[in-house]
Amino acid sequence: MLPSFIQAIFPSLGGPKRIRDVVRACDRSLEDYRSEVQRLFEAPLNAKSLLAMSAKLQAQFYPKLQASNICMLPSYNHTLPTGDEQGTYLALDVGGSTFRVALVELNGQSAGAESMRITHMRSFRIDNAIRSLKGHAFFDWMALKIEESISGPEGKSWNNGSTLPMGLAWSFPVEQTSIRSGMLLSMGKGFLATEGTLGQDLGELIMKSCQERNLNVRMDSIVNDASATLLSRAYKDNSTRLALILGTGFNAAVHLPVSALAHSKFGQRPQSWHDQADHVLVNTELSMFGKDILPTTRWDDTLNANHTHPDFQPFEHLVSGRYLGEIVRLVLLEAVRTAGLFGGEVPDKLSEAYSLDTGIIAIFESDDSASLSQACTAFQTAHPLSKPPTFSDLSFVRHISQLVSHRAAAYLAAGIHALWSLRASAEGLSPSCVGRVSIGCNGSVIEKYPYFKDLCQSYLDELTDLSGAEPHSVVLEPAVESAIFGAAVGVCCLEEREA
Ligand code: BGC
Repeated sequence: MLPSFIQAIFPSLGGPKRIRDVVRACDRSLEDYRSEVQRLFEAPLNAKSLLAMSAKLQAQFYPKLQASNICMLPSYNHTLPTGDEQGTYLALDVGGSTFRVALVELNGQSAGAESMRITHMRSFRIDNAIRSLKGHAFFDWMALKIEESISGPEGKSWNNGSTLPMGLAWSFPVEQTSIRSGMLLSMGKGFLATEGTLGQDLGELIMKSCQERNLNVRMDSIVNDASATLLSRAYKDNSTRLALILGTGFNAAVHLPVSALAHSKFGQRPQSWHDQADHVLVNTELSMFGKDILPTTRWDDTLNANHTHPDFQPFEHLVSGRYLGEIVRLVLLEAVRTAGLFGGEVPDKLSEAYSLDTGIIAIFESDDSASLSQACTAFQTAHPLSKPPTFSDLSFVRHISQLVSHRAAAYLAAGIHALWSLRASAEGLSPSCVGRVSIGCNGSVIEKYPYFKDLCQSYLDELTDLSGAEPHSVVLEPAVESAIFGAAVGVCCLEEREA
């Protein structure tokens, strides 16, 4: 069952079949193949199956809340911001493909001022050469870029001579050992910075490289980017209890009662932390859940089998921007080889793994022209064919893209429902009493992929209604620039606590 909303915006889904204009020697017709792909991708998307996935995910969460050093990682942040905190901070955001250094002003509720403002920002691309820097070399590169930002020609306006308090949003797992330190865990996303530094203190590694350059900075707070998103959204909306990142990577953070996690999960924390904390911000690393729960197709299984870390992040493989284009590519290649798509010709570079950018399939979904002309141009530019694709070929690609992204939106809703249910039961609340919960959302897929957020919201509404919640009690709210803002909010929460 698909929500009626989907049928309204994509009437082509499940619509009448097109008859191909060319007869080709191939194993089956493109229409037969299309029907098979549609059946396989849509079969698990009814509300009953999605609720069953949510229940099984919850069952996978519980043992990890008791013991695991790679997921359900408690931060040191136990209070959420009030939104009144003020100050100016240096915010660092290490993402999968960009390192950003920004000066962030938090103005609280001061009349006439924006509550959060980026006054300066430099953005540095992380290409394969940077991703391949091993151990200290990566942190030295970070320090160099911080220096270029705060000591460059415009740097004077960043720095009035006093030590700059820094907050870091880290888009990788980290086992926190204090508010400003954490043990470096496997990074994924092709990074080699953990070679020779695995298990070392992330705050110290960065500060050592900064000190070698005599930078007048101090690391005050480290948070994962999903937790940063929650802090940033909570600064503006005090009903925020969950946050989601869905771009190249995928993750979620949730604010839970401390009692939801085993005492051993908190490591060696001072008793004073435990005395003050009744809740804790948890980096779930949701990408690592879902194995044997979220149904896969043969194309997902191929992707996983060829992956450098098979089974490491099964949920991420089904929903994130790094993989949506790749799943579509695998379906298309089979269609070329067995059902005559593109006249049986493999488009240029399409046989290379990860060559079909998720940005291109997004264009297929947003192109509402009668001839799919924008989609055609984007595809032909990246993957030229000897003859331009026919309209039938283009509409096939569009349909496959819709099937892959709709499944991602539905599975994501099941994952959010599972975390929402976990939180409700940990708080001892029944779904009807949970009240409105805002979910801060950040990342290119959830923010920009056509219709994705609305589609996910519509699945989420259906699932939470069936669980007995008030209508629209869980709301996906965009949290723009949340990693940068959250890194700064992390520092100011610390200052509030220490004041
Ligand atoms: C990482 C998370 C991160 C997420 C979003 C995942 O691959 O494991 O730590 O939060 O990507 O950037």
